[in-house]
Amino acid sequence: MALNSSAKTVQEISFKQKFHCQKCRYRPFAGMNLVFCTVVFFMIFSSAEAYDPLDPFGNITIKWDVMSWTPDGYVAVVTMNNFQLFRHIITPGWTLGWSWAKKEVIWSMVGAQATEQGDCSKFKGNVPHCCLRNPVIVDLLPGVPYNQQISNCCKGGVVASWGQDPAGSVSSFQVSVGQAGSSNKTVKLPKNFTLLGPGPGYTCGPSTIVPSTVFLTADRRRKTQALMTWNVTCTYSQFLASKNPTCCVSFSSFYNDTITPCPTCSCGCRNKKNCIMSNSKELKKGGINTPRKDNIPLLQCTHHMCPIRVHWHVKINYRDYWRVKIAVTNFNYRMNYTQWTLVAQHPNLNNVTQVFSFDYKPLVPYQSINDTGMFYGMKFYNDLLMEAGPFGNIQSEVLLQKNKETFTLKQGWAFPRKVYFNGDECKLPPPDAYPVLPNSARRNPIVLFTLAASALLMILFIS
Ligand SMILES: *[C@@H]1O[C@H](CO)[C@@H](O)[C@H](O)[C@H]1NC(C)=O
Ligand SMILES: *[C@@H]1O[C@H](CO)[C@@H](O)[C@H](O)[C@H]1NC(C)=O
Ligand SMILES: *[C@@H]1O[C@H](CO)[C@@H](O)[C@H](O)[C@H]1NC(C)=O
Ligand SMILES: *[C@@H]1O[C@H](CO)[C@@H](O)[C@H](O)[C@H]1NC(C)=O
Ligand SMILES: *[C@@H]1O[C@H](CO)[C@@H](O)[C@H](O)[C@H]1NC(C)=O
Ligand SMILES: *[C@@H]1O[C@H](CO)[C@@H](O)[C@H](O)[C@H]1NC(C)=O
Ligand SMILES: *[C@@H]1O[C@H](CO)[C@@H](O)[C@H](O)[C@H]1NC(C)=O
Ligand SMILES: *[C@@H]1O[C@H](CO)[C@@H](O)[C@H](O)[C@H]1NC(C)=O
Repeated sequence: MALNSSAKTVQEISFKQKFHCQKCRYRPFAGMNLVFCTVVFFMIFSSAEAYDPLDPFGNITIKWDVMSWTPDGYVAVVTMNNFQLFRHIITPGWTLGWSWAKKEVIWSMVGAQATEQGDCSKFKGNVPHCCLRNPVIVDLLPGVPYNQQISNCCKGGVVASWGQDPAGSVSSFQVSVGQAGSSNKTVKLPKNFTLLGPGPGYTCGPSTIVPSTVFLTADRRRKTQALMTWNVTCTYSQFLASKNPTCCVSFSSFYNDTITPCPTCSCGCRNKKNCIMSNSKELKKGGINTPRKDNIPLLQCTHHMCPIRVHWHVKINYRDYWRVKIAVTNFNYRMNYTQWTLVAQHPNLNNVTQVFSFDYKPLVPYQSINDTGMFYGMKFYNDLLMEAGPFGNIQSEVLLQKNKETFTLKQGWAFPRKVYFNGDECKLPPPDAYPVLPNSARRNPIVLFTLAASALLMILFIS
């Protein structure tokens, strides 16, 4: 009976599959098909809008609190909150732009600066900090004099993700605006916000007036209130950020000698000019590791041409537990990844027993399904992934308690469904390349059940 009904589920599922994605009909394993389908489905889905299934509510909010009105404008504290669970803003930091509604100027700034002053020739005596109609703002570097700082400023534009470090996920500066309205009836909100973090990928909505922020004084005994507050919300789309993925995944297992490599050209294809061999003499010259202003990477030559490779090795199968080894390798000679994050989705991540040498935090995007988690480095130990070369890798082992009904080594079940590095989704090998369990004990009713169960889980995602 049980077998019958699960068989039916499989049939229903394979119907849905065909409906969702024709390609799946030609794939050898139904279980894999579903994984593949899901991936394709979400790729289509997420490219259509800035929506990330693993962080559906992720955004960066930019809040303007008017703290005082001045004779010709106002002084505002601008606060950027990175509410994304696992996507932080890496060096060289954020760049924020907007368009003034009228002829506003920036008299002065604390904790940040406009990259260009523009034409302030109309002003005599007191000259504004910036007269551009579309000012572009960057954070100050750490270590600026104390009187140029405000709290949460001056981090070189680097902002942690909310999931990894809530306290570090904020960035602020103060701006004094002139030739602006000087009451909440006459002020015009800046518009057309743009956020680079540091590359493209973010799209910002309009500014909207929200209830004024309430602040607690330092001794927490008195509340004060902004005179006026408006918010802007920006969301990320990997599709906008780059045409190609920026990382790829390879697999191996204890039960099969084959290593499933990253797909060729995962992040672009190799040509004579765009990479450097790991044994090249040029690597011995100085300056090879110096980051460039435009952030263009210098990659080690590989067939996948990704700056980052994540390797997932199914290492040991115990009676009640199993163990995975995860290694991340940097192939970019011009980049140290600080505060890196690695996100994986796998149905057994609801039963993580121990993570060795990485920090781990479950992410529960759907509240009900607990199959996604974030790995990140331990402070002062391995939170820095060094540039390509002998030290450009980090690794960890994860001990999982088996979910007895679903655990199997077949059908590639032991491999992750999705992997993200620093908030960008990595290219997985095609389903038919996964390491296969040697041929023994192929027919087994449990397999069918397993298949149905994991398939059901997938359907939950799709619908
Ligand atoms: C931005 O993210 C926060 C935290 O997840 C959420 O509460 C808020 O609703 C989001 N805002 C928008 C406009 O999506
Ligand atoms: C405005 O942004 C702040 C964070 O910067 C957030 O806490 C608040 O909920 C936002 N308000 C609205 C109405 O979105
Ligand atoms: C503007 O300020 C007045 C009092 O100064 C207040 O009553 C009103 O609600 C404010 N309007 C907005 C949009 O903040
Ligand atoms: C919006 O901002 C961009 C970049 O700063 C600028 O090129 C464009 O002209 C602005 N659009 C408007 C309507 O101000
Ligand atoms: C990475 O960090 C090391 C040690 O802090 C430093 O020597 C090296 O120059 C850095 N490399 C890059 C590409 O920034
Ligand atoms: C999710 O799984 C982790 C173990 O990986 C567990 O510690 C946590 O309690 C689970 N959370 C929920 C909401 O089930
Ligand atoms: C973890 O595995 C045990 C053993 O199979 C199971 O009883 C338990 O329900 C699992 N926990 C979760 C959150 O699935
Ligand atoms: C190991 O996996 C590969 C790739 O899926 C497969 O071609 C090969 O037959 C497997 N080896 C054994 C011994 O089953």
